[in-house]
Amino acid sequence: MNINNFYNTLNVTNDTDLKEFAKKSGVNFRKLKYYAEEMIYPNRSDIDKILAVTGLSEIELQLRLGHINSDLMKLLSSHSSQILDILKVDEQGKPEKPILKFNPIFQTELGKLYQEDCIPLIRSLPRESVDLVFADPPFNLNKSYESGMNDKLTKAEYLQWTEEWVLGCVDLLKEGGSLFIWNLPVWGTHISEILNKHLTFRHWIAADIKYRLPIQNRLYPAHYSLLYYTKGEKPNTFNGERLPLEVCRHCGGDIRDYGGYKDKLNPLGINLSDIWYDLSPVRHSKYKTRTSNELPLKLLERVISMASNEGDTVFDPFGGSGTTFIVSEILKRKWIGSELGPVDTIQERFRDIEFHEKVIKDIQEGKNKLFTDEVRKIRIKNNKWLPETLKNSPNGNSKRSASVKQIEIFPKL
Ligand SMILES: C[S@@+](CC[C@H](N)C(=O)[O-])C[C@H]1O[C@@H](n2cnc3c(N)ncnc32)[C@H](O)[C@@H]1O
Repeated sequence: MNINNFYNTLNVTNDTDLKEFAKKSGVNFRKLKYYAEEMIYPNRSDIDKILAVTGLSEIELQLRLGHINSDLMKLLSSHSSQILDILKVDEQGKPEKPILKFNPIFQTELGKLYQEDCIPLIRSLPRESVDLVFADPPFNLNKSYESGMNDKLTKAEYLQWTEEWVLGCVDLLKEGGSLFIWNLPVWGTHISEILNKHLTFRHWIAADIKYRLPIQNRLYPAHYSLLYYTKGEKPNTFNGERLPLEVCRHCGGDIRDYGGYKDKLNPLGINLSDIWYDLSPVRHSKYKTRTSNELPLKLLERVISMASNEGDTVFDPFGGSGTTFIVSEILKRKWIGSELGPVDTIQERFRDIEFHEKVIKDIQEGKNKLFTDEVRKIRIKNNKWLPETLKNSPNGNSKRSASVKQIEIFPKL
């Protein structure tokens, strides 16, 4: 439902008419506005008042507002051929969306970047040709983008646009391919609603990044949502990642008491959970090559390493400063991307690829081990235990080591 659906249903065209409707129906004006703008189905007591004034039946109201619950869905399904006959008439004469041909503005041996609107570009790409999609769209927060795009759409407009590119990306994915979408949790809930009908849900990853100041009467928003879905029952690729044990920054000592379990910790580190605490804030000055929006390289390194292999194809519709593309290139994935605005920053990053290679190398060296090399040194200096110094460790010299069962410890429990 969008704001116009709601206004049309009440037979009003502007706020003056809506105030009039509020008086007639006895439904508070602010509440009517809220239902319209937030696309919320009215409360039961308000429904009755709305039906009384409009003379509609509830089914008609639901159809007009696009609020299709499962009872109504069953009804529609059972009458699908009659409905199709009616729709066919409306569909006739509607122009087909053209499939255009685009030329990349920038190209490497592995990748192609298009300075285009992602929606027609997606339509031009072969279906089921991509192994991994990563998308970080604008969040509709009225930000100013260099592309000059409108970042203050109505909720209905934003969701309609979102649905179009999301479904396009679903078509692009190969069977077994994976899709990740980075957004604010509020939009994540709507995007999940679209994706749940087409793909298999794997995770709602909470990336612990504080992005706003605390607001009164609200919880402090401290995470971005990273939706992770797969086409079909299971992913073609899942390369699990392990994190080092958290230690005291100063002395390298344990933060938690592992008691008798130290020797059972997996020497490759702690299982990565669906809460990611270790990403630096988005506005990290060191990796910032332009004013805003650039995601941490660590995030893309993790996603791309986890859900694709060398030679696979990665697609990102919202290039921004090209984090996905530079990481894909370094990790030897083929990549395709679009960016509506200027692409000079992306090209600049490729000129500076050695810097990025070094960062990626450091990231990779810091994972899949219980202690990083740096932490090991501090621990040795401060006489702290290491896997190989434990008596019963599978990595130590004990005869019992082969029978020791490793346990999983999750971060921050
Ligand atoms: C949040 S930023 C992406 C940042 C990127 N993940 C990075 O790490 O640099 C979103 C980008 O999408 C671009 N954009 C917005 N609408 C677009 C569209 N329809 N097609 C292609 N790019 C678009 C914006 O210009 C902006 O640069």
